[in-house]
Amino acid sequence: MTTLPTPAGDASRTAALEPAGPLLVADGLRLAFGPTIALADASLAVHPGEVLALMGPSGSGKSTLLHCLAGILRPGSGTVTFDGRDVTAMSDAGRSALRRSEFGFVFQFGQLVPELTCAENVALPLRLSGVSRRDAHRTAREWLARLEVPDVADKRPGQVSGGQGQRVAVARALVTRPRVLFADEPTGALDSLNGERVMQLLVAAARDTGAAVVLVTHDSRVAAYSDREAVVRDGRVREQVRA
Ligand SMILES: Nc1ncnc2c1ncn2[C@@H]1O[C@H](COP(=O)(O)OP(=O)(O)O)[C@@H](O)[C@H]1O
Ligand SMILES: [Mg+2]
Repeated sequence: MTTLPTPAGDASRTAALEPAGPLLVADGLRLAFGPTIALADASLAVHPGEVLALMGPSGSGKSTLLHCLAGILRPGSGTVTFDGRDVTAMSDAGRSALRRSEFGFVFQFGQLVPELTCAENVALPLRLSGVSRRDAHRTAREWLARLEVPDVADKRPGQVSGGQGQRVAVARALVTRPRVLFADEPTGALDSLNGERVMQLLVAAARDTGAAVVLVTHDSRVAAYSDREAVVRDGRVREQVRA
């Protein structure tokens, strides 16, 4: 394949010109919780830098699929491959190292450490990866500014609004520049105006860093921020072409 010249350091441009293979692949996942079949032969591919929405009714297996893709849950059968590595074959320690270095997470709420300030929450993943306190805090404040909440830096999560807290959570998830951001109903607890803005900021920041986004939502207005939608139903994934 001919490689077109691209400006140095412009990763997004390279990605746009050269169709890349999938970064994260789920193949034939099955998982049961006792008698409940959460995943029944679920397969899905996530490409580098894309924003993929996982839609589907409550209880259809969206969160379970996200947890398997992220190496939080191990499926009963089937494989998850990240960047050519078999995640399902990794040890618990291997999967948690992978999560720390390559993945970021945003959930509906309750993910910030209540005893730490918002800036300390955002700095935490950097501190855990060995960045100095001073650099981690400077970067954390830059990220809070980017998410339009510079003024919450010294407040604790209990002292900020739901929308502000989710912006802090997005900052914390992306501060280590992960290759995949997993977001499970990230705006599910917000009013629609706040939810819209958080989605705009989340997607813009993810695109800036080049992170792929796996976005679980049952809200089609939230899914509208994605490049591609897939529908989960009865533990299976159906790719969907947007009308
Ligand atoms: N830890 C668990 N223990 C028992 N059942 C579970 C557990 N997690 C999920 N389930 C069940 O698996 C199915 C899929 O759940 P989930 O993946 O959370 O769906 P969704 O995110 O689409 O709402 C549901 O029937 C749910 O009740
Ligand atoms: Mg769910």
